[in-house]
Amino acid sequence: MEKSLDILLVSEDESITNQLLNSFDRDENNITVIRPDDVSREVNRQTRDMVIFVHTNSDYIVEQIQYIKSINPLTYIIFLTNDSDINTLRNITRAGAEEFFVLPEELSLFISRFPTIQKSYQMKLHSEKEQPIMFGRGRGQIYSFYSGKGGTGKSLVSSTFAQTLKLESAAEVILIDLNIQYGGVETLLSIEANRSIADLKPVIQELNENHIRNVSQTEEHSYLEILISPCDTEVEEQLDEDFVSKLLRTCRRSFDYCIIDLPSNMSALTATAIEESDKVYYLLLPETSSLRVLKYFEQLCERLGIHLQSSLELVMNKLSKDNELKLKDIKNLVRFPITATIRNDYKGLQTYINKGEPIRKKQREKLIPFAKDIRRFARSVLNPKTEQV
Ligand SMILES: Nc1ncnc2c1ncn2[C@@H]1O[C@H](COP(=O)(O)OP(=O)(O)O)[C@@H](O)[C@H]1O
Ligand SMILES: [Mg+2]
Repeated sequence: MEKSLDILLVSEDESITNQLLNSFDRDENNITVIRPDDVSREVNRQTRDMVIFVHTNSDYIVEQIQYIKSINPLTYIIFLTNDSDINTLRNITRAGAEEFFVLPEELSLFISRFPTIQKSYQMKLHSEKEQPIMFGRGRGQIYSFYSGKGGTGKSLVSSTFAQTLKLESAAEVILIDLNIQYGGVETLLSIEANRSIADLKPVIQELNENHIRNVSQTEEHSYLEILISPCDTEVEEQLDEDFVSKLLRTCRRSFDYCIIDLPSNMSALTATAIEESDKVYYLLLPETSSLRVLKYFEQLCERLGIHLQSSLELVMNKLSKDNELKLKDIKNLVRFPITATIRNDYKGLQTYINKGEPIRKKQREKLIPFAKDIRRFARSVLNPKTEQV
């Protein structure tokens, strides 16, 4: 049996609404009539099969269509308008609307065609389900890099990891620097920053993928998207928990992997990002002081009600023969899994850091030991069964 379709009718025109409601099969379709202002909220609330716009103000329509598509690319969008301006129609089609009908003359055409539209939508839905979803939209994972200590490699490891994910797969990847004020990812990847996440503040309530892509910078070698942190004390206070959670949820919908470089201080902003993350990679150095900070962080999270057990994994960084603690000793001292190990590679990194050059440029290139370790880590994430520490 075909499933009944969930349809949103966006309309303030009572007469057309009634005509449509009368002509649609109400047993087969679950129809909700809403006002244009409620579109974002309603498509967010549950998956919709179809959205039908009636006479909607064309200033916002493109944005709304893009937003609906960013949430569920399969949602079928139909536009009924009395504006037959070709530019408007072209824009809405380009934004992703499947069909448009010009009112009043094409209303009866629409009503008669509706059963066919419905059927072809059902068929499309069916065929999509049978295909394996490879990096489909909406599969976004949020991975944060954190440690309670500075200088453990959060920025270097997270940015190289993000670049490597991008170079090693077809996934859409975004790197988000949440070190408000003291960000440094742009230096590591030698990006000219003229926009920062603070530029998203005015649109945060209706944030969509386009806003993000307008503000993000593209790293020229890997095509990794990067959201740079603002370097302005005043904006810091404006970027609150609500901002961070909206930002991350939108990024999750539009990218396969969202990699976050977090600051060491446990602000409300850091806590929100940790809570929104599917995984928190905690960078640990092989020394007692680093272990002590981890214990302190665990206690703090407990007090704040943040559950780490399922999301926290350890990344051991700067490993060398002369370490104070050996890897096997650490394994006995911690209750979290060790997901990756990265060698201390002062020599290999030196030239890159001094020149401000990104560690990775091409998929095939000579890799320094640091980059090889990150590649192994990234591959284990992309392909969980094949590679493990
Ligand atoms: N595996 C490593 N081997 C050698 N040096 C490293 C390694 N990882 C990080 N570093 C160095 O440690 C310093 C701190 O790294 P950074 O990423 O800025 O740390 P954080 O963001 O945690 O403060 C940098 O100078 C970086 O080059
Ligand atoms: Mg840093």
